[in-house]
Amino acid sequence: MRNIYFQKTYQRAFGTYPLKGAELVSALESAVAVGYRAIDTAQMYGNESEVGEALAALKIPRDELCITAKVHPDNFSEEKFIPSVEGSLRALRLDRADVLLLHWPPIGGDVAPSLRLLERAGKAGLASFIGVSNYTAAMMRRAREIVETPLVVNQVEFHPLLDQSVLLAAATETGIPLASYCSVARGEVFKHALFGEIARDYGETAGQIVLRWILQKGVPINTMSTKPANIAANFDVMDFTLSSVDMARIDRLAAIGHRVVGSRIPWAPEWD
Ligand SMILES: NC(=O)c1ccc[n+]([C@@H]2O[C@H](COP(=O)([O-])OP(=O)(O)OC[C@H]3O[C@@H](n4cnc5c(N)ncnc54)[C@H](OP(=O)(O)O)[C@@H]3O)[C@@H](O)[C@H]2O)c1
Repeated sequence: MRNIYFQKTYQRAFGTYPLKGAELVSALESAVAVGYRAIDTAQMYGNESEVGEALAALKIPRDELCITAKVHPDNFSEEKFIPSVEGSLRALRLDRADVLLLHWPPIGGDVAPSLRLLERAGKAGLASFIGVSNYTAAMMRRAREIVETPLVVNQVEFHPLLDQSVLLAAATETGIPLASYCSVARGEVFKHALFGEIARDYGETAGQIVLRWILQKGVPINTMSTKPANIAANFDVMDFTLSSVDMARIDRLAAIGHRVVGSRIPWAPEWD
């Protein structure tokens, strides 16, 4: 089966962290109106039932949607894993997730037990595709040894201010593609004049240049915005191509080494 994130419009997903309440509803309305059909949520975000309710109200045909859900590491046990996924699906008003991820690696432990639970959930029909998030290159290699089912993603922090070349090489080696989160580094990218300079040459915005750079690395994107203009611009990134010269100019910013999601997260592994 082909990787879902490379089908239809799903290379561009709308992220729902940290949205809740009226802000979540209005952001999802704007996102759906401009064409987003891939939606990213997680048990950890505490917004699954609100996402489910908002999407139901928007009456999008189920086969147009690609919903990514993520299992909280506190649920990585025989007793909790499947019931927690069933709870997420009830909240999201789905009979199966399109993609189910392990949100973080387990603290200090072997990735094997949680990967086996994930694969079991997929085989039980709770998700069409499975994947991981915040895995290191070594964990990606280990995952390939553990699960038979192809993993469709390792969702990681990915933007031009962070060198993720080790993970990109691991993606090629293992066949587990990356997808980006913090795609605009929560706004940090806009402090760098280069994106504005390149944007003027292409008649695009600085944000669109950043997102296009990510896509041209072969990495599907997750973006979140509360502003209709930003939501529309972030989706509108498929009708131009950055030259190899401009890709290389942006590549050089990786030396800055700006990481948004750092070691304060208890599950954060030792990053590559
Ligand atoms: N797997 C994981 O561990 C993990 C971790 C973090 C995030 N995620 C997922 O990835 C999604 C995206 O990541 P993120 O929200 O953390 O970071 P992000 O997309 O880099 O940053 C979002 C922030 O950037 C601003 N922004 C977005 N597009 C913009 C644009 N075109 N121009 C100017 N400002 C813009 C937004 O502000 P405005 O509202 O003002 O536009 C918002 O405050 C999340 O919603 C979540 O679904 C996953």
